[in-house]
Amino acid sequence: MRLVTLTVLLLFCKAAEFRKAKNGRSRNRAENGKAGRLRKGSGTVKRYAPGLPCDVYTYLHEKYIDCQERKLTSALPDWPEDLMHMLLARNRIHKLENNMFSKFRKLKSLDLQQNDISKIEDQAFFGLNKLTTLLLQHNRIKILSEEVFIYLPRLNYLRLYDNPWHCSCEIETLVTMLQVPRNRNLGNYAKCESPPHLKGQKLKVIRSELLCPLEEDIQPYQQMALSPPVVKPIVDSSICHIYMFPILTLDCKKKELQDIPTDIPQDTVKLDLSNNNIKVLRSKAFDEVPNLEILNLRNNGIEYIDPAAFSGLMNLKELNLSNNSLHNFEYGVLEDLYFLKNLWLRDNPWRCDYHIHYLFYWLRHHYTVNYYGLECKTPEEYKGWYVGKYVQSYYEECPKDKLPAHADQDTEEDEKERQKEHSSQIQTVKQHSVMLTVFS
Ligand SMILES: *[C@@H]1O[C@H](CO)[C@@H](O)[C@H](O)[C@H]1NC(C)=O
Ligand SMILES: *[C@@H]1O[C@H](CO)[C@@H](O)[C@H](O)[C@H]1NC(C)=O
Repeated sequence: MRLVTLTVLLLFCKAAEFRKAKNGRSRNRAENGKAGRLRKGSGTVKRYAPGLPCDVYTYLHEKYIDCQERKLTSALPDWPEDLMHMLLARNRIHKLENNMFSKFRKLKSLDLQQNDISKIEDQAFFGLNKLTTLLLQHNRIKILSEEVFIYLPRLNYLRLYDNPWHCSCEIETLVTMLQVPRNRNLGNYAKCESPPHLKGQKLKVIRSELLCPLEEDIQPYQQMALSPPVVKPIVDSSICHIYMFPILTLDCKKKELQDIPTDIPQDTVKLDLSNNNIKVLRSKAFDEVPNLEILNLRNNGIEYIDPAAFSGLMNLKELNLSNNSLHNFEYGVLEDLYFLKNLWLRDNPWRCDYHIHYLFYWLRHHYTVNYYGLECKTPEEYKGWYVGKYVQSYYEECPKDKLPAHADQDTEEDEKERQKEHSSQIQTVKQHSVMLTVFS
């Protein structure tokens, strides 16, 4: 992957050099008073003139368009759809609109540096499943949500520096995304421009609490999030029952455990830790059991999951977190769970505020994962809403007096959630939640 990135960068440099050389040539030509010549296999080379065709060429079997310095304000509809690299540096693009690039499905790199971009709409990068490299440096971007990047699952090289970042709550999701260790090539060198007391701080390392002052009532939880208490493992797995057939299963339910037991057999496939007293899942809690496929943690009172708690669980298919005390997931918690199929989230006090967005977008992005029971419990105004509906309303910036009407409408997310409910065949749980609604 790094090699690919390097190659792409080299190509960018080459393109830049080539452009310089060409500029030199055209200047010479102008001085000599000669007419422009045709370049091999491409359009007329004439710079600083809008509306002229861009250079389209193929290099190492990949199609490029070089539209640098054309005073463009957008991508143009007549460009070939099979472009893999788009060079749009030094134009006059102000805004990236929804679906602006959606017909260029093969695009691997997109160079938008040195434009005037100040606004990127949420679905501007829709359809760019193959994009690995995105250059946005030297623009006028002040705020940006992580949401714009959910359509770019392959993105591994992102440039954001030389933008006047306003380091406020609005870029908190972006900052947390950039700070996930695996995203080490995303957003390096970008710095806050405002507010004055944060000027010069790097987005890569700034503490997100500085961006988003905490609300009073979530403070105890947040403090935990900053320094998760280390609970010493107190027991080893010998108190659990072990079954070898049909799959290696360790049954540790109802053992009054306060932490994951030690010495779990390394090839355990199913681990039942339900009905214990585990409050915190610490970093690398399941490091010893890389083959785990089914993990049951229901009925524990779990309050906090370290972002690296599930690290290494690449084979996990089922995860049961029903009936715990979870308010949200910290950024990163789900990142290693490549093969997750079913996720039970019911009966947790999900808190519908900004911190729930990560969980929601992860699930939306990983649409093959079936999940059950993601419903707001607090604050009061969103109680009983599907989290998807809350997130949608968050972005609609709906005036407060319109909210009740909105709450009656069925949204797409509701529909999806409901379909999942039907397919899940967990009737007892369903009845349970209906009863809850009746009583509350
Ligand atoms: C939820 O978990 C608690 C322990 O944390 C347990 O006492 C309670 O019975 C569980 N509720 C259900 C419905 O299983
Ligand atoms: C997870 O818990 C729910 C009840 O909340 C139950 O219906 C479901 O079967 C459990 N799944 C697993 C894999 O344990």
